[in-house]
Amino acid sequence: MKLIFEKSQAGRRGGELPKHDLPAAKVPDALRRKTPPRLPELAEPEIVRHFTELSTRNFGIDTGFYPLGSCTMKYNPRVNERLVMLPGFRDLHPYQDEDGSQGALELMWRLQEVLIEVSGLNACSLQPAAGSQGELTGLMLMRAYFADRGEGDTRDTIITADTAHGTNPASVTMAGYKLAKVETDARGNVDVAHLREMVDEHTAGLMLTNPSTLGLFDEHIEEIAEIFHEAGALLYYDGANLNAVCGISRPGDMGFDIVHINLHKTFSQPHGGGGPGGGPIVVRNKLEPFLPVPAVVKDGEHFKLDYNRPKSIGKVRGFTGPFGVFVRSYAYIRSYGPRLREMSEVAVLNANYLLARLKESYDLPYDRLAMHEFVLSARSLKREHGVSALDVAKRLMDYGFHPPTIYFPLVVPEALMIEPTETEAKETLDEFADAMLAIAREAEESPALLHEAPHARPVKRLDEVLAAKRAIVKYGFDDHPDLSAAPQEPRQLEAQKGA
Ligand SMILES: Cc1ncc(COP(=O)(O)O)c(C=O)c1O
Repeated sequence: MKLIFEKSQAGRRGGELPKHDLPAAKVPDALRRKTPPRLPELAEPEIVRHFTELSTRNFGIDTGFYPLGSCTMKYNPRVNERLVMLPGFRDLHPYQDEDGSQGALELMWRLQEVLIEVSGLNACSLQPAAGSQGELTGLMLMRAYFADRGEGDTRDTIITADTAHGTNPASVTMAGYKLAKVETDARGNVDVAHLREMVDEHTAGLMLTNPSTLGLFDEHIEEIAEIFHEAGALLYYDGANLNAVCGISRPGDMGFDIVHINLHKTFSQPHGGGGPGGGPIVVRNKLEPFLPVPAVVKDGEHFKLDYNRPKSIGKVRGFTGPFGVFVRSYAYIRSYGPRLREMSEVAVLNANYLLARLKESYDLPYDRLAMHEFVLSARSLKREHGVSALDVAKRLMDYGFHPPTIYFPLVVPEALMIEPTETEAKETLDEFADAMLAIAREAEESPALLHEAPHARPVKRLDEVLAAKRAIVKYGFDDHPDLSAAPQEPRQLEAQKGA
């Protein structure tokens, strides 16, 4: 596909403006352009076709099945978009006074109440704009809590699991804590014996995802909570996998003290590539005084923002957080109403259905009931036919599916992490399973087909290391002042192919 600049024809216009009759602006000579700006010149239909064609090259949840494990790519209902576009929500200014924004404040307050109920904890802050920011905020709360108790200097270590998402150790380091990693046992649980050896008076807390990134519910979660609480430490629940347990089991009841909830995953939100997101945190009573300001509170029948929190860690984001995300999430929750647990039940059912169809053809490192996602391994395909998890993922694109998450969690070699979510029909799951089984057969019969995949996508197999290390992210006008001499293919691809 040509760049829009390559399609440009000098003098072509999308529309004509009438001649204006205003006096010319007095722009000093030094500031005037010497040459006209280099903008593409096209007629309107060409522009519309160009961008429409570009949009069809993007894969999204609206175009196909997107089983990206851990990322919970569920369908985003259109009614959410209608609600977020209601003028009272859409046109609201963050500095609108409280009397003029009662509806928005009430929505935020109600969302907090639902999140408190779902978490089994006591107080909520909607501010963090992503799960990772929720993690950092939660760790800052731990710091403030221990400092307040005079234990700030002693408790300097946070324990995470070796299956943890990369943001967990990153948040620990950013929050100024030392990081320690507990191992996973043979059944895919946290290794409790190892944990007991690690926890001491220096431990500030544990950060854990449950179900873990292996898609397994930890069978010793109560014992784990006891170990930490006995040592005076806190437990942080990485709620990225809440889709498995929503309305069924609650992190607070498991013994966790702080939870973040990835609104954009669990409660639907068009997301990807780093945003937009929401990562509210919910905490036990004893941590409430440290929550970010402002808090959204109900005072009689009136809703307001409360800044009067002397022990607060302060602000972690502008205003009260990503408001549009709140509206969509609240709409998704209300569309289930009291049947919210069905969301998780169907997500778990879908995952186990797929697992049952695939486990004979791929390695299954932990043969247990899965939660909302499961992790297979292409280890045998690699050993016997030289076909890797990457090859399987790339070949899936030829079958019209977004690949699952691969090479994560790190404890599983050649990992394929599959999360179907509750929004997919059985027919879609079957088509995906058929494709995965066909790929396993292809690996045996014609591995070269997989090494070179994808064959049917606009961009073929790239050297991914080079693409990351030597990314060319802008079109080189300086190298190609004469556009007619520009290469037909985007130069990024040429560079990557050639090198
Ligand atoms: C297990 C887990 N924890 C934390 C995060 C971080 O969440 P976010 O992407 O919202 O920052 C993710 C994101 O993929 C995740 O899967």
